Amino acid sequence: MTSYPRVASLKTAAAFRAHLHRSAIRIEFDNELAPPSQSPLAQAIEVDDVRVGNRFCILPMEGWDGTLGGEPSDLTRRRWRNFGISGAKLIWGGEAVAVRHDGRANPNQLLMTPGTQRPIASLRDELIASHRDRFGSNADGDLYVGLQLTHSGRYARPNVYDRPEPLAAAAHPLLDRRFRGGVRVLDDGELDRLAEEFVAAARLARDAGFQFVDVKACHGYLGHELLGARGRPGRYGGSLENRTRFMRTVIEGIKANVPGLSIVVRISAFDTVPYRKRQDGVGEPEGADPEPGRSAGPGFCVVEDDDHLDDALAECRDVLAMLEHLGVRWVCISGGSPYYNPHVQRPAMFPPLDGYEPPEDPLRGVARQIRVTARLKHAFPQLVFVGSAYSYLQEWLAHVAQHNVRQGLVDLVGLGRIVLSYPGFAADVLAGAPLKRNLFCRTFSDCTTGPRMGLVSGCYPLDKFYTARPEAIRVRNVRTHVSTT
Ligand SMILES: Cc1cc2nc3c(=O)[nH]c(=O)nc-3n(C[C@H](O)[C@H](O)[C@H](O)COP(=O)(O)O)c2cc1C
Ligand code: SF4
Repeated sequence: MTSYPRVASLKTAAAFRAHLHRSAIRIEFDNELAPPSQSPLAQAIEVDDVRVGNRFCILPMEGWDGTLGGEPSDLTRRRWRNFGISGAKLIWGGEAVAVRHDGRANPNQLLMTPGTQRPIASLRDELIASHRDRFGSNADGDLYVGLQLTHSGRYARPNVYDRPEPLAAAAHPLLDRRFRGGVRVLDDGELDRLAEEFVAAARLARDAGFQFVDVKACHGYLGHELLGARGRPGRYGGSLENRTRFMRTVIEGIKANVPGLSIVVRISAFDTVPYRKRQDGVGEPEGADPEPGRSAGPGFCVVEDDDHLDDALAECRDVLAMLEHLGVRWVCISGGSPYYNPHVQRPAMFPPLDGYEPPEDPLRGVARQIRVTARLKHAFPQLVFVGSAYSYLQEWLAHVAQHNVRQGLVDLVGLGRIVLSYPGFAADVLAGAPLKRNLFCRTFSDCTTGPRMGLVSGCYPLDKFYTARPEAIRVRNVRTHVSTT
């Protein structure tokens, strides 16, 4: 089994740089953090009539903790209040909210319906109230808050946490095998109706006070899977024109029927073939080319090796050009999926319950996402880009973030897991306060393992609130088991 140095052990800029250099990992960073008055991270960004007060964005993160009816619980509310005190001025959707029951990724995912609209609206209200409490009564003037809308497609588990009820975009020779009960592919008529349901949910979101909705197209869920549905017959498969039809229909539907609501898109801009656990526990690709002789197998922008990253992004560029044409201004770049290549999507030292030991230094995964985002930003300077997968950088997160924003490689830096372990990270960076090393997310993956066991998600190791919960022991036992088998 390969092991990689822990980021926490790379204590000086020289040591971190030497490791990156030795491993040929291309991540650049500033040695020192600028004082708040001069920090690129503290600069507002303004597009059309939207002003976002700084360069930190909270990435959407579900907690598997809503009610069976799709309403938030106290745990959900606590998480959203933490987003409010984070200091970040862009809240990219809070968490994935299903537009209808069969699209929920778990029985406790939030669901947008007329019946749940008020409680979901209160999440936003509480986030804004906590932001004002912490940063001043007018602080929300440059806070931009949206809601992420989703249908989980192949990864739907709406009724029982461990019973998949996949509604796929297309058959997939490798992924289908992972569903013992089979996979049902949604037909064109169902997709037509689903697009209308996205529009209806967007209207509810606007009326609940959200300023934008994210039409989610990442992480293997339906919106993303459709983008790669080359083998699908009919109006939603085959050509890129067809594969983007769903996204286009939803966006055009919202524009026509929900005036005043902005639309943004979070996209898995690149992917890899699915990974599986090798006998020694390390991840390995599961069949690089399932259709010999055809370079374009299923999937959207599948990267074969990092030297050909640019070529793999060709269709993503086409999609971004389409989005720009449709009036979308804000995009959030992610990659892969937490289900079939978690090391790509959320680089981590320790695998979640259903994962595998990292097949590469997780810093390489971080570097890949930074590079992809920078390439796309370069190609689309008018779009605002939010980057993802920075949490693994830990002590060096702010240094890399500052460099990347200063260099224009990305406009805003997205924060995922680190907000669960260290909600005030961005506020501390922006205040020039000493950073709390004991709160850095060390990528134990318990926030992913918990849900895989049907438990609520949270930072069990580092957030005392979750450490004190009974689930913490079950999650810890599983982690010990995973890391010793
Ligand atoms: C517990 C958990 C829940 C997540 N839920 C969502 C989600 O609802 N929607 C989404 O787009 N991404 C989701 N993600 C992915 C994150 O937004 C982010 O892309 C990922 O964690 C990598 O960023 P990080 O390195 O800062 O954690 C989730 C991640 C975690 C750890
Ligand atoms: S459980 Fe906490 S430390 Fe582990 S990956 Fe999640 S946020 Fe990070």
